[in-house]
Amino acid sequence: MKAIVNTVYGSPDVLQLMEVEKPSPKDDEVLIKIHETTVNRTDCGFRNPEYLIVRLISGLFKPKKQILGSELAGEIEAIGGNVKSFKKGDKVFGLNTFNFGTHAEYLCMSENKSITIMPNNMSYNEAAAVCDGMFLAYANIKKIDFKNTPKILVNGASGSIGSASVQLAKYLGAEITAVCNTKNLDLMRLLGADHVIDYSKEDFTKNGKVYDVVLDVVGKSSFFACKKILKPKGLYFSSELGYLSQNIFLALLTPLFGGKKVLFPIPKDRKKDILFFKELIEAGKYKAVIDRTYRLEEIIEATKYVETGQKTGNVVITLG
Ligand SMILES: NC(=O)c1ccc[n+]([C@@H]2O[C@H](COP(=O)([O-])OP(=O)(O)OC[C@H]3O[C@@H](n4cnc5c(N)ncnc54)[C@H](OP(=O)(O)O)[C@@H]3O)[C@@H](O)[C@H]2O)c1
Repeated sequence: MKAIVNTVYGSPDVLQLMEVEKPSPKDDEVLIKIHETTVNRTDCGFRNPEYLIVRLISGLFKPKKQILGSELAGEIEAIGGNVKSFKKGDKVFGLNTFNFGTHAEYLCMSENKSITIMPNNMSYNEAAAVCDGMFLAYANIKKIDFKNTPKILVNGASGSIGSASVQLAKYLGAEITAVCNTKNLDLMRLLGADHVIDYSKEDFTKNGKVYDVVLDVVGKSSFFACKKILKPKGLYFSSELGYLSQNIFLALLTPLFGGKKVLFPIPKDRKKDILFFKELIEAGKYKAVIDRTYRLEEIIEATKYVETGQKTGNVVITLG
């Protein structure tokens, strides 16, 4: 089968289109023919690790997982002897975070991992582009109390995690302020933002407005910059470790003082979350946000685009 392989760490140019052995399913596994996948920031972070912690997981000197890709939409081609929840021909979508392997024509996954039947109102293209953003956004959103319509500011709202954060938090009952560039203001309103701030024209930390929660899902601000716009018990989340990995230390220290807090939850990929995401999509409460679609053969170009940090939502790879 065709796959994109990286045997060494490095720039997007280390990605090679190769022929590798097609996997066969174990008793509890399904064999998925992948129709569409994505290139996301997690792939980039594991292809060229910036932080030692990533190398501790993925291999100190060279990658243990040599086929990246964590999101998929495809079709079950075969099932293992004990598989009960899927059959040949089922259309599925899901996530294989930290195990990777979706940048390939086929992947085997246990039926108990984060895959399920595709939402009945999405194409393969859309279904491939929802899970990673939702999963990373939901890790933060689960920590928020939605009882009294919290005021939430999302910085980096036009990214993959940002567009998912806006939609999930809106669904759960927040009043959302989305911070993005001029070109994405209308998209943010369409996704449910109550207020929008164009970061190229206005500094959201200097307009006198305060929030219960700041989700800095592009990591371009900091707790210290946002402290003044947080209410006394306000929460700050970031998708980045921050200067000198400060967000880890702040997440350990700030909860001890009972006031404004930094939270840095470690995302965990769980099947029950994928089932919830499917429900939300089928209820019409969640839209896929797709910027560009590339062919598998164009993965270097796609990755270079993702690494500009300027994609709107998600970049899909079609194996079609
Ligand atoms: N914690 C984790 O496990 C994890 C996993 C994956 C990714 N990440 C990190 O999370 C961040 C977001 O990832 P993503 O995939 O959602 O991002 P992304 O899709 O790469 O998009 C970032 C978005 O933010 C916008 N942006 C750029 N500069 C901005 C600024 N100064 N203020 C507000 N918005 C700005 C960009 O659009 P414009 O430039 O057009 O404005 C773009 O739409 C990245 O920093 C990534 O490294 C963390």
